[in-house]
Amino acid sequence: MDLDDTAARLGVSVEDVERVHRLAGDRPSAPLPAKADAPAILQRLAVRPDDAAEIMAGWPDPGSPLWTPELRWLLDRSIALVRADLGGYGWLSPGPELPRERGPAWRHLYVYAYLALVDVATGYHRDHGIAADVTWVTLADLGRNLAVDRRMNREGWPVMQSWLTLHARGGLYELGRLQHHRGDTAINLHIPESGPLTPQAIDASLDQARAFFPRHFPDERYTAFSCGSWLLDPQLLEYLPEDSNIARFQRRFELEPYEEPEGLDPDVEALRFVFRSLTTPLDQLPRRTVLERAIADHLRAGRHWRWCRGSFPI
Ligand SMILES: CC(C)(COP(=O)(O)OP(=O)(O)OC[C@H]1O[C@@H](n2cnc3c(N)ncnc32)[C@H](O)[C@@H]1OP(=O)(O)O)[C@@H](O)C(=O)NCCC(=O)NCCS
Repeated sequence: MDLDDTAARLGVSVEDVERVHRLAGDRPSAPLPAKADAPAILQRLAVRPDDAAEIMAGWPDPGSPLWTPELRWLLDRSIALVRADLGGYGWLSPGPELPRERGPAWRHLYVYAYLALVDVATGYHRDHGIAADVTWVTLADLGRNLAVDRRMNREGWPVMQSWLTLHARGGLYELGRLQHHRGDTAINLHIPESGPLTPQAIDASLDQARAFFPRHFPDERYTAFSCGSWLLDPQLLEYLPEDSNIARFQRRFELEPYEEPEGLDPDVEALRFVFRSLTTPLDQLPRRTVLERAIADHLRAGRHWRWCRGSFPI
């Protein structure tokens, strides 16, 4: 295979193609579910009808003209690349960011990879004795992220395609209000957009995790819950009331000394999670809530948001 040619046809860098080639090697891929079963699976994964219709329309049927040999190669090797790290919990890019405007195969290639890995992930969950309701709630983050990406006019996907490999590899579990991400010594907490962050809901989710991990991952020893987020930036307290859910969430954590995060711009992340837009000019952003006003006013004053990390004992 000519990697330069493949990269050119995919509209990505040759380094990206070489990386996939190297990491996937000739490792086993996994088949997509039968097309006839896909609508029910997409529904189980909370994929909205408009997103599901696009995914079905771009389905990689044998002989489909939407799927060039390069796209088929990337799909197959991306599945193999993620599968090769089954059980892993580090950040993993499943492949290069694609020019998604070229069509449904391009737009949803990593969704098809995710669908192929659903069986692999559920098998891993079963091997760890994890109940089916946790499995499906966890995997249904696909639908939530596709809906967010649509709201973001497709600006959100590059992060999501990597994020969703955690779910596909058994690295992350949604237990009540929070997603719990396996780590070396700490369980890393993520906060999906699913309603208010009430202290009661968090307490319940932490309690669930305290029982879940010793039971399903008895070889792993966790001493803390940790979190890295724009939500932990103490500057938010200049704007938010003390009894807001975000302020109360912050008070659980002891922060690490601040370091600029690598590969991530905290201002962009604040815009992502509050406005779901990365490109709207600051003076055109909505000003409905105290947080919306805070995020934009802070930036317009020439200040910056921070991506803070903190933890507390389990
Ligand atoms: C985290 C989250 C659930 C907190 O929401 P919450 O429980 O309502 O938070 P608070 O009670 O502290 O809200 C305080 C104020 O900020 C507003 N607010 C909170 N989150 C907001 C958001 N994402 N967008 C706009 N306004 C928001 C609230 O409406 C409230 O303002 P108001 O009194 O004028 O109505 C919410 O921000 C969210 O869903 N975020 C997206 C996911 C995310 O950021 N995850 C972390 C990724 S690292």
